Amino acid sequence: MTIHDIRQKYFDFMQARGHQIIPSSSLVPEGDATTLFTSAGMQPMMPYLLGQKHPLGARLADSQKCFRSQDIDEVGDNRHTTFFEMLGNWSLGDYFKKEQLKYFFTFLTDKKVGLGLDPHRLSVSVFAGGSGVDKDEEAIQIWQNLFATVGIQAKEGVHIFPYPAKKNWWSRSGTPDQMPTGEPGGPDSEVFFDFGVENKLHELSPWKDEPCHINCDCGRFMEIGNSVFMQYVKQADGSLKELPQKNIDFGGGLTRLEAAVRDDPDMFNISSLAPVIQEIEKLSEHSYSVEEHRSSMRIIADHLTAGSFLIKDGVFPSNKGQGYVLRRLLRRAAIKLYFLTSDRESILKLPEIVRVITDFYAHPYFDPQDYPSIQHTITTEISKFSHSLDRGLKELEKNPQVDGKFAFDLYQNYGFPLEITAEILAQMGKQVDLKEFQAEFEKHKELSRTSSAGMFKGGLADKSQVVTAYHTATHLLHASLRRILGNRVEQKGSNITADRLRFDFSYTEKITDEQIKAIEDLINKKIAEKLSVVREEMPKEDALKQGALAFFGQKYPEIVSVYTIGPKNNFFSKELCGGPHVESLAELAKINIVKQESLGATTRRLYLQFV
Ligand code: ALA
Repeated sequence: MTIHDIRQKYFDFMQARGHQIIPSSSLVPEGDATTLFTSAGMQPMMPYLLGQKHPLGARLADSQKCFRSQDIDEVGDNRHTTFFEMLGNWSLGDYFKKEQLKYFFTFLTDKKVGLGLDPHRLSVSVFAGGSGVDKDEEAIQIWQNLFATVGIQAKEGVHIFPYPAKKNWWSRSGTPDQMPTGEPGGPDSEVFFDFGVENKLHELSPWKDEPCHINCDCGRFMEIGNSVFMQYVKQADGSLKELPQKNIDFGGGLTRLEAAVRDDPDMFNISSLAPVIQEIEKLSEHSYSVEEHRSSMRIIADHLTAGSFLIKDGVFPSNKGQGYVLRRLLRRAAIKLYFLTSDRESILKLPEIVRVITDFYAHPYFDPQDYPSIQHTITTEISKFSHSLDRGLKELEKNPQVDGKFAFDLYQNYGFPLEITAEILAQMGKQVDLKEFQAEFEKHKELSRTSSAGMFKGGLADKSQVVTAYHTATHLLHASLRRILGNRVEQKGSNITADRLRFDFSYTEKITDEQIKAIEDLINKKIAEKLSVVREEMPKEDALKQGALAFFGQKYPEIVSVYTIGPKNNFFSKELCGGPHVESLAELAKINIVKQESLGATTRRLYLQFV
């Protein structure tokens, strides 16, 4: 069974139980510039968990692409990856605890409709109580009954283990005391698969002589799914109040489930990652079976997979936001390969590995044209980095004392992300003053904020100012496309992060390099002219008469807000729009169009960034 088979089996199982299957959302949260990545299946579901009606009903299931940047340092062991798919099912005020635990237990153990795992190998954790919420006796009872159906006498301490909030409470921000006002959360129940005391990893574990438990880090037990009973919302006075509807938020690790089915605790042997490891073996001329190479190979495999998915979802390597995380992933993969081969040229072959990733995930995630485009982005990034790699490493070698300032210079001059410098130094057995390092890092963050703010001449920009600038760039792009490509261009959608603008519009042909250049030049010319941006309110009819563009299919009120860029009698752009926008194009930096994609026969997508 591959992860594709398991995903399909789960969809079939959930569909047979009244669930509608919904597609995965982007790894970059839509319309939310405050969160960098989608890191749990429930993130795109937030409005519905809080009570908004979902158009497809109260029972939904999906497999959501997730990226957890906070796990980067954990990658290298048998089970951590930054990218993974989370199987999810939701009850939005429909079924609750009893049905959910039964569904998951059946899916795990049933030989026909489920995965046929041996129930003796399963253990569960439940909430032990705290923060004014009682111990979850109900879940304990349900689990006892479920285990009894397969002849297992489970009780507290045998297959069922209560833990406090630190382990068995779920919200986006952690335990109840960490939840901000308005945040939903609740007790949860995790299921663990036991790979057995005999397994190799346990033998290698530093804890092997200690009594092992389900939350132990030795690798014997692996969490494969978590049912969250999302029934509380945090109040301003610090208390928890019952939500108007009780929800289920279930998350299952797709790749971990395959590891359990294969009865192999090494996730890097599963269907999606094994081919990547094989390519790394070929490229590095080392074997994955050699213990000392394993961690580096796992890091390369994970980071390239994550990198490919992030690029597919519109992230570009850069010095801030999502782009910085992507840069760190790609450069870290390159350094790990360099340490395996001691050959700088070898890292230039890294992008070739992407082929097995886009092939394996062709359904349901990648289109044929994604491979060349992802390969191109990674090649550009790695080539840039390869030039400074030798020199940077030499600097590190020859400096006996590496202080925070030096680490920062290395970042500026050679493009070594600070975290990577720390990692290399540790590998060289060199001491780093972590405090000083941290101070420099904070200063650096401040500096990079200021330098990105450099483009906003009014002073220090925060994220919202960047987003506002991209809003205005959206109008510039729309107007320029219509001038260069003609009036059949109509905006179909847009999406903004602190890093870039994504713009979809109706158009049938590929846009040539000359046309792209003409569009960029036109926008940059208008920015250089420092045109004014003026907001007015007027009746919708007047606005349309004046030639203002409206979003096809959108409902507008009778009195609309209109933004005009340029002189009133000879404007460059006029659009119906709620704003906000900058007041003058003098506030914008120059722009680049960094990528185009086709979204079917009639729609194209462009990505634009400030330089
Ligand atoms: N939201 C839960 C998790 O991410 C299912 O573990």
